Amino acid sequence: MANHIQHVVVPGTFDPVTLGHVDVINRARHLFPKVTVAVAESRSKRGVGTTFTLEERVEMLVKALDEEGVSELGGIRVLPFSGLLVDFCREQGAGGVVKGLRAMTDFEYELQQADLNAHLAPDLESVFVMSNPGFGYVSSSVVRELASLGGDVSTLVSPNVKQRLKERYASMD
Ligand code: PNS
Repeated sequence: MANHIQHVVVPGTFDPVTLGHVDVINRARHLFPKVTVAVAESRSKRGVGTTFTLEERVEMLVKALDEEGVSELGGIRVLPFSGLLVDFCREQGAGGVVKGLRAMTDFEYELQQADLNAHLAPDLESVFVMSNPGFGYVSSSVVRELASLGGDVSTLVSPNVKQRLKERYASMD
């Protein structure tokens, strides 16, 4: 009989972490006893650099999980990673990857990634959770654009992220 998965990885660029991400991490933790949030060194998706450094993105995530009360659940840690996700999962002893899906546009990209990961590591399970409808339109890029144009991001990100965005875009004026 197959063992139940005890440990999953929630990977992402988190540039910066949004309340949509926090919701996915929270739900992953309710499904599995141990969750490692893996912050990717650079965005491989479109080959462009990130707005926040890896260190900043990890720090904002740790604080956001505290601010939103998710850390209290225990069993969650945040780690940076570079290289292949499947290698990171193997190193950490995780049996699955959890990602959130917002819309069909996410699905095509995520299915491709999941298929590729399944090809590279057939024993690694890909698990998808549907985004909370309240966060369906929230993405890191929407948050960055809104903040850069002086819009209010209070309902989309945690307080520490809002502050960081304010500092980042104020320094670019
Ligand atoms: O926040 P994102 O952009 O959805 O995160 C994408 C991420 C970091 C999960 C994805 O790009 C990834 O897994 N990168 C690590 C490199 C890798 O394993 N790529 C897939 C095989 S080429």
